Amino acid sequence: MMTRAVIAGLGTYAPSKVLTNQDLERIVDTNDEWILTRTGIRERHIAAPDETTTDMAVRAAQLACAEAGITADQLDFIIVATNTPDTLFPSTAARLQARLTSSPVPGFDLQAGCTGLIYALAMGSTLIQNGTCRRILVVGADKLSSITDYQDRTTAVLFGDGAGALVLEAETNTEFGILASYLKADGRGGDLLSLPAGGSRLPASEDTVRDRQHFLKMNGNETFRFAVKAMPEAVEEGLRAAGLTLDAMDLLVPHQANLRIIDAAVRRFNLDPDRVVVNIERYGNTSVATIPLALEDARQDGRLKSGNIVVLVAFGAGLTWGSNVLRWGR
Ligand code: ACO
Repeated sequence: MMTRAVIAGLGTYAPSKVLTNQDLERIVDTNDEWILTRTGIRERHIAAPDETTTDMAVRAAQLACAEAGITADQLDFIIVATNTPDTLFPSTAARLQARLTSSPVPGFDLQAGCTGLIYALAMGSTLIQNGTCRRILVVGADKLSSITDYQDRTTAVLFGDGAGALVLEAETNTEFGILASYLKADGRGGDLLSLPAGGSRLPASEDTVRDRQHFLKMNGNETFRFAVKAMPEAVEEGLRAAGLTLDAMDLLVPHQANLRIIDAAVRRFNLDPDRVVVNIERYGNTSVATIPLALEDARQDGRLKSGNIVVLVAFGAGLTWGSNVLRWGR
């Protein structure tokens, strides 16, 4: 009997504080017009100084579990995709477990840049399909403001904070759920997008702090070039792995890094813009949280319907890229 991971619950969270382009004009040498035309971003949500990645994950996870009609002690596993764990260890997954339940639910953090949520859904789906787990909490949570250099205008304008969570549940003989995934990495491009210090390569020192090496560094142009190739490839190959073609795709939910990268994919596939979810305007790039936040918006505006074939696609640090193809609903 065919077992699949269906999405039983979705929850999202964005911090209440909003940082607008006008606010950024007062922090770095930039302007609303540049940011809007080059990236499509108007504003982003920024976590409070004492609000952690785990805090945001808890809020999203509680909503996802409530929608799935389960309590956290019924989970078999927790996978947290993040690039900004509260600490290198213990893991965010362990911190989240302790906040959600007294039951000893195992879990780990998964770090695959902005493709982390795609990787996590693929891993969760595999653990369910092979019978290891029945219910898995998959979370994407990032506090990018904690590694953003607000003296560097080329990156300061791009990023925001947020979290999203999905409860995956085993179902047999179903047409719904995660149908296929496509995952790739090419570490040769690692230097295009990295957090240089704070790991074993460059442990924290007075020098690393002085040289601002604890902030995210990005080669924007090269990352852009990589993204416009990687996204269409992942969409096509994900659909192929599911035995589907582009015509079958009802909704494309792309990682929200830059509106121009999404537009390039829309043009490449000649898609009706209504079939592509875009909300970068209000959230900026929240890394692993962009896709859940976009799914939630699509659900609220009525575009995400039960039975839809949905393609989730992302690219990010690593370099990594990939997609999940699923039939929404259960
Ligand atoms: N405000 C005003 N001017 C700026 C700003 C700013 N915030 N940032 C850069 N500029 C200037 C540059 O200095 C440059 O000036 P110059 O021509 O005098 O040298 C000019 O604007 C053009 O700069 P470019 O870098 O060529 O601008 P581009 O159109 O390529 O846009 C951007 C830059 C937005 C970073 C783009 O390259 C991009 O989006 N890249 C992909 C980034 C991405 O997807 N990252 C995420 C991947 S994974 C993850 O999410 C962590």
